Amino acid sequence: MKIDYNLQFNKNNKLQHFLNIENLSKEHINEIIDLADKYIKNESNKFKDLEGKTIASLFFEPSTRTKTTFELASKRLSADFINIDIANSSALKGESILDMIKTLEAMECDMFIVRHSSSGTPHYIAKEVGKKISVINAGDGIHAHPTQAMLDMYTIKKHKGSFENLNVSIVGDILHSRVAKSLIASLKILSVKNINIIGPKNLMPENINELGVDYFSNLEKGIDNVDVIIMLRLQQERMKEAFISTEDYYNNYGLTKQKIMSAKKDVIVMHPGPINRGIEIDSEVADGPNSVILDQVTVGISIRMAIMSLIFKNK
Ligand code: CP
Repeated sequence: MKIDYNLQFNKNNKLQHFLNIENLSKEHINEIIDLADKYIKNESNKFKDLEGKTIASLFFEPSTRTKTTFELASKRLSADFINIDIANSSALKGESILDMIKTLEAMECDMFIVRHSSSGTPHYIAKEVGKKISVINAGDGIHAHPTQAMLDMYTIKKHKGSFENLNVSIVGDILHSRVAKSLIASLKILSVKNINIIGPKNLMPENINELGVDYFSNLEKGIDNVDVIIMLRLQQERMKEAFISTEDYYNNYGLTKQKIMSAKKDVIVMHPGPINRGIEIDSEVADGPNSVILDQVTVGISIRMAIMSLIFKNK
């Protein structure tokens, strides 16, 4: 499916949908970070920004973090929130995704939060819905996970202050990771000094030379003196064949207390989750003093509040 990266802007160049990081400006990203910061610093956790709005979440793939934080974010903004139970929906009776969306539109939903295993599905829906409706991409295939990237940018800013002088390493299955693609796009827009990607060559995308990053096959070399390490999961559900044994993967790319010593002493260790302990990360690191993994989850609520309220403000 050919993806239209400009689809997310209305005719005034404001966000109508939130589908991908590509084509966002530094100002767009900072506006979201600043608004999330206001929500975080406000003592209240109940706001009226989305009162009277109806938001439907459609998760065609499993999720714990994204689905739940979107629900919490919607409720904190006083929206009515509908969680469509896809496994028990009319999709099982052969209803197409478009007919399902049109049906929900007829129930006067204002926004759809969509996760799907097929890359480009949220863009396809955004093209088909009425002009007053907005779509947020909650992860599409191996393509993009833009709200995850935004909460990761907030987390980095919170712990490191700014982006320009940072060395950031992303470790793991870049090929199958929608998070990695949105992360790289965000870090480049924010002018991060060095972006390293690390992992076995067969888990790297073919266009590795066009990504504007440095590739390392060796973990210790790739995290040498870095400020931020972002670990990724082996996306086994998206692999058509076994790319590497989990034992080999752990031996070469598993982040241990010993290996982390190559990085700066105050390095932060991030992971979008779900984590696989003993495969890509040891418990000593995941639960250790450098880990900000649960912080990422908490920030996810306010970042999603910020994205949703900006979209409604632009209408
Ligand atoms: N990071 C992330 O997307 O996690 P979930 O699959 O739990 O939503």
